[in-house]
Amino acid sequence: MGQEQASKDKSVFIRTYGCQMNVYDSERMIDLLKPLGYGAATSPEDADLVILNTCHIREKAAEKVYSELGRLKKIKTAKAKHGEAFSIAVAGCVAQAEGAEISARAPQVDMVVGPQAYHRLPELIARAARQRGDVLETDFAVEEKFDRLVARNADGPTAFLTIQEGCDKFCTFCVVPYTRGSEVSRPVDDITAEARALIAQGVKEITLLGQNVNAWRAPPPAGDRGETVWGLGELCRHLARIDGLERIRFTTSHPRDMDDGLIATLGEEEKLMPYLHLPVQAGADKILKAMNRGHTADEYLRLIERVRAARPDIALSGDFIVGFPGETNEDFEATLALVEAVGYASAFSFKYSRRPGTPGAAMRGQVADAEKDERLARLQALLEAQKNAFNRAQTGKVLPVLLEKPGRHAGQLVGRSPYLQSVHIRAPQSMLGSIAPARITGITPNALAGALTTEGEAAA
Ligand code: SAH
Ligand code: SF4
Ligand code: F3S
Repeated sequence: MGQEQASKDKSVFIRTYGCQMNVYDSERMIDLLKPLGYGAATSPEDADLVILNTCHIREKAAEKVYSELGRLKKIKTAKAKHGEAFSIAVAGCVAQAEGAEISARAPQVDMVVGPQAYHRLPELIARAARQRGDVLETDFAVEEKFDRLVARNADGPTAFLTIQEGCDKFCTFCVVPYTRGSEVSRPVDDITAEARALIAQGVKEITLLGQNVNAWRAPPPAGDRGETVWGLGELCRHLARIDGLERIRFTTSHPRDMDDGLIATLGEEEKLMPYLHLPVQAGADKILKAMNRGHTADEYLRLIERVRAARPDIALSGDFIVGFPGETNEDFEATLALVEAVGYASAFSFKYSRRPGTPGAAMRGQVADAEKDERLARLQALLEAQKNAFNRAQTGKVLPVLLEKPGRHAGQLVGRSPYLQSVHIRAPQSMLGSIAPARITGITPNALAGALTTEGEAAA
């Protein structure tokens, strides 16, 4: 009773920017704050504590945070007039990159906490309540973080699970090695325990996360007499043996860490979904070199061939940057040629954004914005056409669809195909969380339309 009372006392609102690792971190922050009596607020206005879990990857992402802080300042001032407390915390990669500068620029901020230190949020909240002025915590304490995180709450049939953090690759455009620190892999037993806890709560699909998820390496669990070090392939096979877990995905992979063990697992392990996000960024060797990606375009294409030989139906996805310093029209044409050669099922593409402190920011040959716009439009048109072609090719097929959530219309559910496409299906609510065979009947710009097969209907 006492606890229930407390949980109504305070509420937290978290706004999440950036990648899936931030989504995972935000969920864990909610889990951490629950024992302190924090419930979830539906808007910043209704909250006692607002956390912005931020992203520093591109200039625009970082700027969004400051405009949001402007809005929050107004709420804080209005609440103060009524004697109501309102705390603002900045977490995530902007917090790590800018630290104390945030509170200098936005004094309304009470706490600044980096992505490897948010397990200390409960202490920070207590400290912020005691002292005037802001509280800063930006240590890199990855192992401590995972040890200190509390039992987690699943929310629906799919879940993210961070298995690896940080990055040692130092691509010359990227802030991640500075904001997340160096590569750290979580131990097998920790990951397995978290996966089991999720599955016990009805989770069917787990997406293993890491900035370089395929760089994950760890000793096998005690008692295993096989390899001395496991890679992601072994980990996936291990997790696949857990009853109740139906689907495994992982993201984001780096071409340099795509080893034979993982490729073989993609071909052999049925629970591993046929979808691979394998960013290449650019197609000209000169640019790949300047980006410090550590491979050529041809090596990437040969890698894709090996992946396709192991898993012919695999859906490929990638990230691209246009207008990296020194990129000529000819270099950009090489990116288009690489995209033509691969054929992507989905992709993310960005204009190069100059990030302070990264080597790329100081390079000569920065590309004019208008040029970047033009290249991005051409690249996106090609990627869009490839996505539509991939989606269209599913029409008429029967695919197993994991029904994840209610659709916008009554009587409709939205699920995912093995290839990560959204599928809209007429199905009863009672089927939420199940995997049902559905015939793909058509495509819309961002999804597939499907109908339950008679077998699926019988299951309903
Ligand atoms: N670890 C992943 C990517 C993490 S960041 C990998 O190595 O592929 C996600 C994507 O953001 C990158 O793949 C890249 O395409 C894009 N990105 C990173 N820094 C950028 C910058 N300075 N400007 C534009 N896009 C950037
Ligand atoms: Fe950034 Fe490169 Fe590391 Fe990916 S591999 S997180 S792009 S530095
Ligand atoms: Fe952004 Fe940090 Fe993720 S910079 S993309 S939130 S690792």
